[in-house]
This record gives sequence, structure tokens and C-alpha cells, in this order.
Amino acid sequence: MSVFKKSHNQTEKDTAKVTQLSIHSLQSFLKNDVRVHCYDTIDSTNNEAKRHSDKLTDTPVLFVAEHQSMGRGRLGRSFYSPECAGLYMSLMIKALPDADDIVCLTTATAVCVVRALKELCDITTQIKWVNDIYLSSKKICGILCEAVTDPVSSKVDSIIIGIGINVSASDFPKEIQDIAGALNQNIDRNRLCAKITDNILEMVNTIKERSFIDEYKAHSLVLSREITYTQDGVTKTATAIDIDKNGGLVIQTADGTKTLSTGEISVRIGK
Ligand code: BTN
Repeated sequence: MSVFKKSHNQTEKDTAKVTQLSIHSLQSFLKNDVRVHCYDTIDSTNNEAKRHSDKLTDTPVLFVAEHQSMGRGRLGRSFYSPECAGLYMSLMIKALPDADDIVCLTTATAVCVVRALKELCDITTQIKWVNDIYLSSKKICGILCEAVTDPVSSKVDSIIIGIGINVSASDFPKEIQDIAGALNQNIDRNRLCAKITDNILEMVNTIKERSFIDEYKAHSLVLSREITYTQDGVTKTATAIDIDKNGGLVIQTADGTKTLSTGEISVRIGK
């Protein structure tokens, strides 16, 4: 079933055809064995995954929704998730034994999304460290990876990989109007979701090889550019020079070379 969604200040050109999400369709595209839960509306697919985490077996579980009422982003931000206009998905998998591999999952996922968009939409996207995907200088996708720990052992039990993609243009809230964009392609979200999921599951099997790092670098929006970052409450300037094997950003500062492993940087986009 296809739905055309158009808001009052969108033009025909901005309006992409949106195919309804369905378990049946998703399963038909998936190559890997995955359990699928599909919702019309949910607070957050990451929250829903967390609520199911005690039932996780070796079979990965995918949660998708047409709408999120409390979509979450990194650093406590919200993620705008209007109905039928985006792809809101969370893939829950068993934790990997090696902590470095878990840290890498976020970087690897960005490459999985970039690949899927190239394969299915023939578009080339860029990655802003750590995990924002940009198209034509606008953010079209964010990634939020979360670990669920066992309350008794405090060990990481499962990993939730949350991905939000703006598929069709919509009325973005004022705060993000200048930076947010959308795919604006007539893409079947079931197909895109299945492709991203399969890419991630295949990547997880070979994560130790770090074969995604070169691809991550090739799509980086920040390498060789001046960035700003905040450390101990102070905002500093540096040049981004490399991505290390665990996805850390290597920067050249006035005091020498440093590696950022988390946090957020700013870079002037489109210049
Ligand atoms: C970011 O841009 O900071 C990350 C955004 C991640 C959004 C996705 S949408 C699906 C999943 N559920 C959430 O609540 N967040 C992630």
C-alpha cells in the first residue's frame, strides 16, 4: 500500500511516495533470520527494544515504527519522527564479547547506512563524525547505539542500534530547519530497512577486520577540515586528520595529536 504524504508548505517536487511498513514485506526482503516488530506509533523504537531485551535470544530483533512520539537522539536530544515520513528502526543483537568491537558498532553502522543508500537509491552520502549522515549538506540520518546491561553482573547483554532516516521532506521544527534534510526519493522503506539490517548483520560477523574504516574515511565530512570540540567545558579548535581503528577521531591541536572517542564536534558544512 502506498501513501502520499504532503504537508501544507511542501511542493510536488518535495513530496516522496511512501510505502507503508509491514512485517510481511520486511521479511520478504531480509536475507538474515530476524524477528520483526512493526508499530503504527511508539514512544521510541530504542525504548521498545529495551523493554524486550530480557527475551533476546541469538536471533536479532528489529523494531520499526511509522511514528515515534518520543524519538531520542544522542546527548539527550529528541529526534523528530513524524508519521510515515521517515524510517525509524532499532536492531537489537546479543552483545559482542569484545568491548572495542562494541564501540566500533556505531561507526560500522554509519557505513552500513551509506552503503544501503548507494545500493538502493544510488546516492552518495557523507558521514559527520560520529554518526550523522548528510546529503547535500543536510543531515538526513542519525544513529543512536545503546547497550543494555545485566543488573546483577553489570555486563553488557545486548546492543540496540537505533537509526532514524528522514525519507520524505516535512516541516522540520524551527531548531533543526537549517540543518535537516530528507532523501526525497520514492524508496520502499521496507526494502531500505531490510538492506540496512542485512548490512549490519553481515558487518557484525567481520567486525574484527575493521574493513569498514577505510569506507568511513572515504565518506567523511570532517577529515582534513577545521573542527571545534568541547573538552572540560572549553571549546577548542583543531584539524581532523584521521579515524583510528576503533572509530575515534584523531585531531591535530596546537598542543599535539589527540583522539576523541566520544562527544560532538562542529564543522562548517558546505564550505
Ligand atoms: C541522533 O541524531 O542524535 C541520533 C538519532 C537516532 C534516532 C533513531 S530513530 C529510531 C531509534 N529510536 C529512537 O528513539 N532513536 C533512534
